[in-house]
Amino acid sequence: MTVPSPAVSASAGASRKPMNLHRLREMHKQGEKVTMLTCYDAMFAKLIDACGVDCILVGDSLGMVVQGHGSTVPVSLEDMAYHTRCVARGNQNAWVVGDLPFGSYQQDREQALRASVTLMQAGAHMVKLEGGGWTADTVHFLTERGIPVCAHLGLTPQSVHALGGYRIQGRDQAGADTLRRHASELAQAGAAMMVLELMPSQVAAQVQADNPGLITIGIGAGVATAGQVLVLHDMLHITRGKLPRFVRNFMTEGGSVEDAIGRFVSEVKAQRFPDEALHGY
Ligand code: KIV
Repeated sequence: MTVPSPAVSASAGASRKPMNLHRLREMHKQGEKVTMLTCYDAMFAKLIDACGVDCILVGDSLGMVVQGHGSTVPVSLEDMAYHTRCVARGNQNAWVVGDLPFGSYQQDREQALRASVTLMQAGAHMVKLEGGGWTADTVHFLTERGIPVCAHLGLTPQSVHALGGYRIQGRDQAGADTLRRHASELAQAGAAMMVLELMPSQVAAQVQADNPGLITIGIGAGVATAGQVLVLHDMLHITRGKLPRFVRNFMTEGGSVEDAIGRFVSEVKAQRFPDEALHGY
């Protein structure tokens, strides 16, 4: 079976060049918002890429979305490598970020390096790891060895059991100060990108202001981040059950998957998504 080529607007697909870190930094410097969607397979990777999405995140959310688990904790490095290879086969131009799963980098920086090499050789351009200041040494170690790193702060789903559920982080002053401190430590350690998940918009805005060159990617973190990410199955409303407030259903607006993804791109670029009143905390 061949992967069909979706018809997309000329601005989205046709003139695309392979994305790289330099171009992402330039976009951020010029004030152009960066778009990112999660993806776990070749067919969707081809479609997302053709629709002009800047970055694909092979997220360990695949534990819930694809594998049917209740959290990301059971996902293995082998699972991540398999899905990264699938995405890499379908993608041509988007920047691919591969999630280091729970247990693959927490032990020490050498373990993190081995896991990162596995994902980079599977087709990732950058690896993502969750956690605060304790990961700074690992971030430095990886970036020095030519592996671009995306940090992940705020709600870190691999720590869901320690956090007591999927709760907003950084709500009080002490929590907000800790988030800001960790973000600066990770940026100084070499993280080029940082996912900021489920935190008051003001805290994410402060993190971005503290670290102007850092490409912050928000999910439930307001409008001030350099870019936005959503879980593909959430924004297409495939996910069952109650969705978080920060998710917008792009599928009902568009009517086709291709249109929904294209609309996500144009709404983020035009800074109409997220809408602080509807999606902010
Ligand atoms: O795994 C994932 O999908 C993520 C996003 C929620 C940012 O980490």
